[in-house]
Amino acid sequence: MYPMIKIEGVRHAYKTATGPLPVLDGLEVEVKEGGFVAVVGPSGCGKSTLTKLVAGLMKPDTGRVMVHGEVVTGPRATVGMAFQNPVMLEWRTILENIVLPLEIVPNKLTKAEKMERANYLLELVGLAGFGNKRPSELSGGMRQRASLCRALVHKPEVLILDEPFGALDAFTREDLWQTMHKVKAEEPFTGVLITHDLRESIFLADTVVVLSQRPARTQYVLDVPDTGPRTLDDLYTPETAEMLNILRHQIEVAQGRVAA
Ligand SMILES: Nc1ncnc2c1ncn2[C@@H]1O[C@H](COP(=O)(O)OP(=O)(O)O)[C@@H](O)[C@H]1O
Ligand SMILES: [Mg+2]
Repeated sequence: MYPMIKIEGVRHAYKTATGPLPVLDGLEVEVKEGGFVAVVGPSGCGKSTLTKLVAGLMKPDTGRVMVHGEVVTGPRATVGMAFQNPVMLEWRTILENIVLPLEIVPNKLTKAEKMERANYLLELVGLAGFGNKRPSELSGGMRQRASLCRALVHKPEVLILDEPFGALDAFTREDLWQTMHKVKAEEPFTGVLITHDLRESIFLADTVVVLSQRPARTQYVLDVPDTGPRTLDDLYTPETAEMLNILRHQIEVAQGRVAA
């Protein structure tokens, strides 16, 4: 199918007081329309930098980042983002926080339609009835669900998730993985998930890209078969164990702890 995201030969260095810091050095990523790629790699290797390139928040020194067939030259309204620590405005209710992107991205929706969309998403993620709460009244997992609604409210083509479940406890995280499957079935998007959790990567994604240490290049690409884990029980099958072993080995290679 048509590649929704294409990262070709991307190299990038940050300018710092002590000189250039090479961060990306030969990044190749392709995500088909409706696909879901997980990106894993050592801490500080350049994963968040990759998300900023896709979102158009910065441009690479060399190479191309294409979204929907166009070279990304600036921020795109058709991208939604969610992060590890969702920033929510405490003086707004959860519903009012969720509709924020609709106040920024041009659209013809009435106030009632915006609220209807936000309420539908709240119900989808299991937060029906919490729309009138303030962010501080929600648990970490609930705030993350609300943050997901906010990232999806304007029906983005591309959803970028930068370690969204990283700060949650294991059980809450697993609940959210299942919610993600439900959301993906109802709301079409092309996904990019940054994660440190290898089980999370194969549970949610159809492709897992392993990046090398900084400056990051695409070191390894794992295709998760259609029959890959889709229920929590599937995470304990021999097939899943084999994929996890491959990824764990690749991470050790990336960290320079073992030879390729
Ligand atoms: N704006 C910036 N200016 C200078 N260095 C940066 C900037 N943003 C990130 N870095 C550095 O670039 C490297 C990669 O950062 P990042 O993409 O956030 O890594 P990751 O998300 O994989 O942990 C890190 O060493 C980080 O300190
Ligand atoms: Mg990061």
